[in-house]
Amino acid sequence: MLPLVTTNRHRLAVLVSGSGTNLQAIIDAARDPAYGAEVAVVVSDRPEAGALDRADAAGIPTVVVPWPGREHRQAFTKDIVAAVEAHAAETVVLAGFMRILGAEAIERFPHGILNIHPSLLPAFSGTMHAADDAIAHGVKLSGVTVHYVDTGVDTGPIIYQEAVPVLPDDTPVTLHQRIQRVEHRVYPDIIEVHAAGRLVVSDRTVVWIEPGSDS
Ligand code: GRF
Repeated sequence: MLPLVTTNRHRLAVLVSGSGTNLQAIIDAARDPAYGAEVAVVVSDRPEAGALDRADAAGIPTVVVPWPGREHRQAFTKDIVAAVEAHAAETVVLAGFMRILGAEAIERFPHGILNIHPSLLPAFSGTMHAADDAIAHGVKLSGVTVHYVDTGVDTGPIIYQEAVPVLPDDTPVTLHQRIQRVEHRVYPDIIEVHAAGRLVVSDRTVVWIEPGSDS
């Protein structure tokens, strides 16, 4: 397996809580030296997260910051920001991170924290069971949203959306698998566009700038 190239590429901190299939997609993309970013550190709130094994296997440093409870969100956020800064990461990528960061993190990384959510926001926001909820509601289209993180939950400016059909015989598992195939394809590409400085945010609108454009 090729080692990760540690050059002057844009440095990412990837925050995880679970199995880390999106982290894996980013790691795999970054194996290409031409990819415009690299994973500098993986931070988890759960020591048992499978994503940490993926980081270990790729030789990426890991930090565990256990969730201390809502009343300590500020201290938790401070520790996360410290881990990100200790690894000189410029952008924070949430990839299945199940905690809400305090406002201090958003202030420290303005339009510098990305999240991926398995629905077409603002539908089914603020839930960890978006696929279940989509099926329960009977929607015909679900999808993927990548957005910047603001102080709300799944409310930040939308960078990209892609629809995923809900099929008549779908279960929450089969729908989420179809959604994740899209996630794994689009998230690394969008992170690279962000890293290249090609996303400009104006209020809630994110404008994609063409490569090489002066504007
Ligand atoms: C993804 O479906 C993502 O949209 C949501 O959490 C899930 C994480 O999956 N925020 P994984 O840990 O990347 O496999």
